[in-house]
Amino acid sequence: MNVDWIVHNAREVVTLAGPARPRSGSEQGELGLIEDGAIAVKGDRIVAIGPSGEILRDHVTAPEHCLDAEGGVVLPGFVDPHTHLVFAGTREREFAMRCAGQSYLEIAAAGGGIRSSVRAFRSASDDDILRQSRRRLDRMLAFGTTTAEVKSGYGLDSEQELRALRLIEQLDREHPVDLVSTFLGAHEFPDEYREDRAAYVELVAEKMLPRVAAETQARFCDVFCEQGVFDRDETETILRAAQRLGLGLKVHADEFAPIGGAELAGELRAISADHLLVTTDAGRRALRDGGVIAVLLPGTCFSLGKHAYANARKMIEEGIPVALGTDCNPGSSMVDSMPLVLALACLEMGLSPAEVVTGATVNAAFATGVGADRGRLEPGLRADFQVLAAPSYISLVYHLGGSHVRWVWKDGRRVLSAGDAA
Ligand code: NIG
Ligand code: FE
Repeated sequence: MNVDWIVHNAREVVTLAGPARPRSGSEQGELGLIEDGAIAVKGDRIVAIGPSGEILRDHVTAPEHCLDAEGGVVLPGFVDPHTHLVFAGTREREFAMRCAGQSYLEIAAAGGGIRSSVRAFRSASDDDILRQSRRRLDRMLAFGTTTAEVKSGYGLDSEQELRALRLIEQLDREHPVDLVSTFLGAHEFPDEYREDRAAYVELVAEKMLPRVAAETQARFCDVFCEQGVFDRDETETILRAAQRLGLGLKVHADEFAPIGGAELAGELRAISADHLLVTTDAGRRALRDGGVIAVLLPGTCFSLGKHAYANARKMIEEGIPVALGTDCNPGSSMVDSMPLVLALACLEMGLSPAEVVTGATVNAAFATGVGADRGRLEPGLRADFQVLAAPSYISLVYHLGGSHVRWVWKDGRRVLSAGDAA
C-alpha cells in the first residue's frame, strides 16, 4: 500500500494497544510494546504498525518520507489533561516568597496568587496573551505534547472569561498542538465579589455558563473546590448547572484540604478529579464508584515545595485510572514538560515508568475527552506520535533535564524536528 510516511527501525514502539477506555490496576502498566517496530501513516491516520520488516515489506512511500528511527522510541504524543496555559505575565516573586517560607494560600490571601494574574489578564491585549501563550505551547510540543486541555479562569467576569475561551480557540487554530477548552470561571472569587460570594456563584451558574455553552467550544466546566475558595455546595451548584447545559465536569479537588471535592466528583460522575493530594478513603471510593479519572499533578506539589504527593499507588490498586498533567500555570506550577511530571510521578509517587506513560497518553486522553482516537497507536487512530532519540521509553524518566524528542507528528504531519525549538 502507498502511504505518506514510514518510520522504521524503532527499538521500541509503545502502542498502548488494548481496550478503548482508561486503564487501571495492572492494566495501567501494560504498554503493548513492539520491538524493532515501525509505523505507517496516510493522511491524518495510522494505517499500520508492527515489526519493521513487515511494515517495509507491505508499504511504500517516497524515499525522503521513509525515516530510520535509528534504534529510538516511537510513542503517542502526550496529552496534557490539565493546564492553565493562557495567562498574562508571570509570578517569579511569589516563588521567591515561597522559598522564604510563605505558603501558596498565605500569598493568595494577601492579594497575590490567582487574583494578581486576573489583574494582569484583564489589562493585557489579546495579542500579548496569544504571543506569551504560543511560546509556552511551542515548548510543550518540544517536550512531546500534541494535545492539551486548557482552562479559562483568569478573567472572572463574563466578558473576560469568554475572551479567554476565544483566545484558547484562536490558539488552537493557529498552533499544531490541539487544545480542548474548559470553563473555569469558578477559579477564585474576583475582587468585586469578595464580600458577596453567593452573587458570584449565581453569576457563574446563571449568566456565564449559558453563554459559555452557546457561544464557545468549551467541552468542560471545572471548579476550584478548596478551603477559602469554592466550598462543596458552591461547587455543586455550578457543576450541576454545567451538567444541565451538556458540559462535561472536572473538579480541582482535595489539593490542600479534603472538603468533599472527590466525593462530589464521584457523585456527579465527573470525567476527572484533579490534584487529590489529601483525598480520604471515602473520597477514593467515590471516585472509583463514579468512574472518575484521577488527574495527578506532581509538578504542582514539587513547585510548591511540598512533600506529601497524591497517593497514586493506592488509587491504581483500588481501580482508579491515574492520568498525569503539568497544571501549567504562573503560580503553583510553571511547568510545561510532561517528562518532568512523569519523572516526579516515578520518583515521588512510586509509579513505574510504564504506569506513568499510560498516565500521560491513554488515560490523559480519556480525561480530556479525546480517548476515542488519541493516546494509543493503532491502525485507524489519529497519527499523533513522537520519536525519541533514546534507547528506551524509560529514558524519559531516567535521563532528565532536556527533551529526547527527535520528531513529532500531529494529524499525520511532521510538525517538529529536533533543533526547531525548546
Ligand atoms: O491548579 N488550584 C488552582 N489553580 C491553579 C493555580 C493557579 C494560579 O496560582 O494561578 C492550580 O494549582
Ligand atoms: Fe489547576
